[in-house]
Amino acid sequence: MKVDVILGLQWGDEGKGKIVDVFTPRYDIIARFQGGPNAGHTIIFGGKKFVLHTIPSGIFHRKTLNVIGNGVIIDPLILFREIDKLREAGMEPAENLLVSRRAHLIMPTHRLLDAALESEKGVSKIGSTLKGIGPTYTDKYGRNGLRVGNIFDHEFNARYEQLKSEHLETIRHMGFDFSEHLLDSLTFDAYEEKWFESVKRMKDLKIIDSEIFLNSSLDEGKSVLAEGAQGTMLDVDFGSYPFVTSSNTITAGVCSGLGISPRRIGKVYGIFKAYCTRVGSGPFPTELHDEVGENMRVRGNEFGSTTGRPRRCGWMDLPALRYSIMLNGVDSLIMMKADVLNPFPTVNICTDYQLGNEKLGSFPFNLSDENLKPVYREMEGWNSELDACTKVSDIPAALAEYIKFIEDETGVPVDILSIGPDRLQTLER
Ligand code: GDP
Ligand code: IMO
Ligand code: MG
Repeated sequence: MKVDVILGLQWGDEGKGKIVDVFTPRYDIIARFQGGPNAGHTIIFGGKKFVLHTIPSGIFHRKTLNVIGNGVIIDPLILFREIDKLREAGMEPAENLLVSRRAHLIMPTHRLLDAALESEKGVSKIGSTLKGIGPTYTDKYGRNGLRVGNIFDHEFNARYEQLKSEHLETIRHMGFDFSEHLLDSLTFDAYEEKWFESVKRMKDLKIIDSEIFLNSSLDEGKSVLAEGAQGTMLDVDFGSYPFVTSSNTITAGVCSGLGISPRRIGKVYGIFKAYCTRVGSGPFPTELHDEVGENMRVRGNEFGSTTGRPRRCGWMDLPALRYSIMLNGVDSLIMMKADVLNPFPTVNICTDYQLGNEKLGSFPFNLSDENLKPVYREMEGWNSELDACTKVSDIPAALAEYIKFIEDETGVPVDILSIGPDRLQTLER
């Protein structure tokens, strides 16, 4: 068997959580391969809404196992906050949750460092979610990090203290005063205390060598779906650097983040919204600063699932989409939130970028170039509600035309269309 992949093709928040949840009954195992609690994956069913940050989005199906892979970074406190919320809703997530021994731990001081680095950057700040993502991956690649498997070691506390004092030294050197700085409304000391309680609770979770478990599960004929976090335009290598996250969000990240050979990658599903959003700073060529963008934000409820920040909104960007499809080897496209554009009389779609008077033949190195302009094609809006559509053939002609245009421009079929946040509002071809 092979590992199928679902990942975001834009700047995150494409609706990965919803689709992974819809796909879960078809798979034995769902696995997160990168990122951490910077992710916010929303799942809505039966009138209830859940937002997951660390736990894979297959957790609502008891027969499916959910793996937090080695490429993920974990804040134990946030993980248990999620587990406790699911328990309050009557679930027992610890039963079908497996955690890689090799996943790195986000320490409270990683979060302080994240805040210090952002405040040092001033106006050029990245707009990080401040969950400690950058500093934790920095320690991972700098070969200093603490991993889940280390929580059982005698010297765990000593290593923690050593790393903490190095972090605090850096923070002091940066002149960042954290005495008043709250971490999710807790003082540093209160956060640290809860963090250690959570580390203790982690010892009761199913901690495994996930690379061995996943490969032997595939050998036994089990099906696996890898769930991406963030999006391709936030990839550390290919996104709008430096306004990116600190992991590889693309298909290649599945191999290193789960210990899967490239030969074992199966079908790649790429998710995108019928328009674009971005939260945090950084270039966004099709961004709208007018009432059209505001309308998208309100209709699409475009406020961050993790931070609550308003998301920036703009038109569909085909140069970015084509680039993402190339990087990920996308076989099948999933278009989300078409319903948000229902009342729009016309919709624009960026077909190319232009630098001065010249159309760019390939995706540019510098997306921030102020002379870079999107070239739009205006299309007729569908101007109708989609609630009554139960299959793809029910959709209005103008929406079918919009989808056909995207398929022609990318060469990849749009196989799934999402027309609302609920599990059931999903049309498959
Ligand atoms: P993720 O990070 O990719 O999982 O996406 P988020 O959960 O952060 O953001 C997607 C948002 O759009 C959530 O609030 C979803 O409930 C919502 N959503 C998902 N699909 C649709 C859709 O087709 N239509 C509408 N209107 N909302 C959707
Ligand atoms: P999901 O999985 C949207 C953005 C942040 C910031 C940049 C770096 O829900 O799609 P970080 O905290 O990683 O240092 O922030 O990346 N970002 C996301 N934007 N969706 C996400 O995840 C994101 N995770 C990080 O806003 O601009
Ligand atoms: Mg999200």
